[in-house]
Amino acid sequence: MTITDESLSYFSISFGLVLIDKELPYDLYINSSTHAKRERFVCITRKNSSVSTEELHTFRDKYYQLYIREDQRDLYLKSLTLVENSDDSEKASVIKDSAIKYLQTIFERDHEFSNELLDETIEGCKDSVESMVDVIQDYDILEVQKLIVDLSFHDFYTYDHSINVAMYSISIMKALKPEASRHDLVMAGMGGLLHDLGKVKIPTSIINNPGKLSDEDFGIIKKHPNYGLELLNEHHCEHAEINFDIIKRVVGEHHENYNGTGYPNQLEGTDISVFARITAIADFYDAITTKRSYHEVLSTEDALEVMSRSVGRKIDPRIFEVFRKNVNVMLDGKSHQELPDSFDPCQPQNVLPLAKAAPKIQRSDFINKDKDDFGKVKADSNKKKKAS
Ligand SMILES: [Fe+2]
Ligand SMILES: [Fe+2]
Repeated sequence: MTITDESLSYFSISFGLVLIDKELPYDLYINSSTHAKRERFVCITRKNSSVSTEELHTFRDKYYQLYIREDQRDLYLKSLTLVENSDDSEKASVIKDSAIKYLQTIFERDHEFSNELLDETIEGCKDSVESMVDVIQDYDILEVQKLIVDLSFHDFYTYDHSINVAMYSISIMKALKPEASRHDLVMAGMGGLLHDLGKVKIPTSIINNPGKLSDEDFGIIKKHPNYGLELLNEHHCEHAEINFDIIKRVVGEHHENYNGTGYPNQLEGTDISVFARITAIADFYDAITTKRSYHEVLSTEDALEVMSRSVGRKIDPRIFEVFRKNVNVMLDGKSHQELPDSFDPCQPQNVLPLAKAAPKIQRSDFINKDKDDFGKVKADSNKKKKAS
């Protein structure tokens, strides 16, 4: 049976990512119109039936493109994990396109926020992050970086940056806590994806400005963590599998610096949520290593060298150490440069504000030995205190 419905929207998919010899969780369509400007979608395979390799070859020869209905996008995303023998970068590019679609829904300006809209979008973001976890959970940070390099980049800094930060955050969480549950990994990714949610309330002319911002504009930018929190508090979202407290803490705390000089609340050390401290490292690394049109990127070695100079000031020493070991590159960068504590990785930059580095401070000077990475007081530290 064939159906057409012009009121629905459809998106094209790659032949290589169709499930073979398994029950399809979605309907497959083709566009049967011969007019370039008019589309007529016809269902060729119904949900719950299956497609063989031979049938797929026939489709490929006969039809230019396969489509899925927009309202089945989540089912398609979930099916990617079952697709065998396909390239991870092909899957990642589908995941990225879907994540961008949800981020666009949040960041586009011509709508009012409603509980339903935010709920739906966050649900969609979760589907994208779940698929990211499926693809990259066994990747180390350099493998994630390679994947990011392979993905195309778009014009709007916030979208690409948010998706990259989500992927790095998942990878850092896994490195920091190898026994992390899937929920922890998904929440690390969700925090990364939504960390700049508050920018929706900042004029695009400011958030996409890669030049030096005036003090006034920078003052406006600094409001985005609280704007993001307000949005999440005003619209009461609930979802059994999403911990909104974690998202709120990442949204509100990702610009806090480890030494208490960040904003908006000058939180310090492990008082900053571990998810926000992970996001801050992911944020920093993406901003200085991802090639964009506006600035030259640092090599992995130089990026680690520059970041190491912000240890204990901007970023958590212990998480950075895990990060550095995971990247598995020795600190032998030649740049001898650093970025100021006020460096804002969430902002596009024409030129990185690198300056000659001051002598290094020992990493151990910053570590609170009584608390673990998650801010919990260590059992033996209590014992020691009681004994003394
Ligand atoms: Fe930010
Ligand atoms: Fe950011």
